[in-house]
Order: sequence, then C-alpha cells, then structure tokens
Amino acid sequence: MIKVLFVCLGNICRSPTAHGTFRKLVKDNKLEKFIFVDSAGTAPYHVGKSPDSRARSTAKSRGIEISDLRARQVKKADFKEFDYIIPMDKENLADLMAICPEEDRGKIKLFLSFAKDSRFEEVPDPYYGGQAGFELVFDLAQQASEGLLEYIQAHR
Ligand code: 4NP
Repeated sequence: MIKVLFVCLGNICRSPTAHGTFRKLVKDNKLEKFIFVDSAGTAPYHVGKSPDSRARSTAKSRGIEISDLRARQVKKADFKEFDYIIPMDKENLADLMAICPEEDRGKIKLFLSFAKDSRFEEVPDPYYGGQAGFELVFDLAQQASEGLLEYIQAHR
C-alpha cells in the first residue's frame, strides 16, 4: 500500500480539495486497493471540522464529494506511516521540515512540483478570498493530482 498525505495550514480548504480530487482519480483508475489517501493541517485551529462550505460546494460542482472529511493536525507518526507527504505551499513545507525526522524528509514534496505546466509554484490560500480562489485551488489540484499519480506509478 502506498500512502499519500496532503497537508495545508487548516485542513479545511486546500488539502481536503487535494484529498478529494486525488481520491477520485485513484478510484477512477481502480487503484484504491493500492493507494491510501489522507490529509492534515499543520495548525490545530479547525480539528474535527468539515471542509469549508466553499470548498465543499466547489468540489460538488465538479462531481467530487469531500463532505465526509474531518480536519486533523499532522502528527509525528505521519512521517513514518506515509510515503508521500505533500504540502500545498512553502510555509507548509517549512513547517513540516521543522518537525520531520531527518530520514523521512525525502518524502516531503510540494504539491505543484507534480503539475505539468502550472504557472504557480504554490497553491494559494483561498480562506480570506472569494469563490475564484476556490476554483483556482481546484484547477491546480486537478493538474497536480494527475502528475502525482503518474509519478507514483513510475516510482513503484
Ligand atoms: P487551508 O486554509 O490551510 O487551505 O485549510 C486555511 C484555513 C483556515 C485558516 C487559514 C487557512 N485560518 O487561519 O483559520
């Protein structure tokens, strides 16, 4: 089993969107027995909450269900359990690196490093913005998820 963990700050906007998008791609490719998907936040503010209603409605409009997800915080055991730890932005990456055991640091890779021709290096935080920000997060997650799945299959 290959295990993938998506990480953002609050685990209510970007990483649940990535989680849902990648989970759907894995299912569509009949790979759910081989690839396990989860998400978490570096911060504890929203632990136990459902994804932000704007993230949920944007996902739904694109045929992806994320309302079953609940926010949790990254924990030390995650660095051992997961094979791919995928932060949304460089701040998430730095926060992960700061608490990750040295031998597991190679598992941490910025999500958009897997997007083929993204104009962005990071997934912008949509929390304080409008609907367009959530649409953008979704577009980026779609692109990067496709690249990530190809990468995982090539490196099995
Ligand atoms: P996320 O968005 O990291 O994509 O889940 C945020 C959610 C909440 C906060 C910031 C970003 N917050 O400050 O509460």
